[in-house]
Amino acid sequence: MIILRSQREIEKIRKACLIVAEILEHLKERIQPGVSTWDLDALSEEMAIKKSAKPAFKGYHGYPYSLCTSLNFEVVHGMPSKKCILKEGDIISLDFGVSIDGYFGDSAVTVPVGEISPEARTLCKVAEDSLFQGISRAVIGNRLSDISHAIQSYVESRGFSVVREFVGHGIGQALHEPPQIPNYGPPGKGVKLKAGMVLAIEPMINLGRAEVEVLEDRWTAVTVDRRISAHFEHTVAVTQNGPEILTMRNPGG
Ligand code: MF3
Ligand code: CO
Repeated sequence: MIILRSQREIEKIRKACLIVAEILEHLKERIQPGVSTWDLDALSEEMAIKKSAKPAFKGYHGYPYSLCTSLNFEVVHGMPSKKCILKEGDIISLDFGVSIDGYFGDSAVTVPVGEISPEARTLCKVAEDSLFQGISRAVIGNRLSDISHAIQSYVESRGFSVVREFVGHGIGQALHEPPQIPNYGPPGKGVKLKAGMVLAIEPMINLGRAEVEVLEDRWTAVTVDRRISAHFEHTVAVTQNGPEILTMRNPGG
């Protein structure tokens, strides 16, 4: 069942989301060659606790860290490590969530480390733009797969591919609630979108083939062809005034 959130609940979710957005902004500013993903994880946790929020991923199905750090050909759920030191030309996905007062927020960005290749830059741009294409369809009266279809058609028209194995999700009083939101599919299918639905939309876009596999650590998802992948995520409320991006610090800017 998809829970429709009252304005009061949306404000609670927004509180969590704004903390996530602020922490991701801070982490982005720290990204440079020489920084370890371990340090980024520690920083994310420290900042969350300082704001009285709880990192949402730590302990979730046994995930051991607060932050997911997915480097280059890692797609999602990359694990922070002291040995993982960022270097010029890398792209790093930072995925972070918190809960506060019983409500959750979730967001991800992919960030360049120093100068990156033109194709990596294009991949990141198309991945982020595809998220906004999806968000623009999160409108009352549309169907869920209108979001999915907008993402897929945008990405494939630009020659990249969409990961099938992982999906976006409802979010509110749990990190993952119904519905699941694939990033591909025909338009016009699934539930009708209603005011009060809160959705975490999160396309994962590959430079090469769509296929992914999970490494022996049972978390890190990587591309089968070992070409790079980008990931962006926002928590979005469906409202009478259109989609409202709750994980954006300055909406519209
Ligand atoms: N943003 C991801 C998601 O929504 C991160 C989950 S990582 C986990 O699924 F460790 F919490 F599983
Ligand atoms: Co998510």
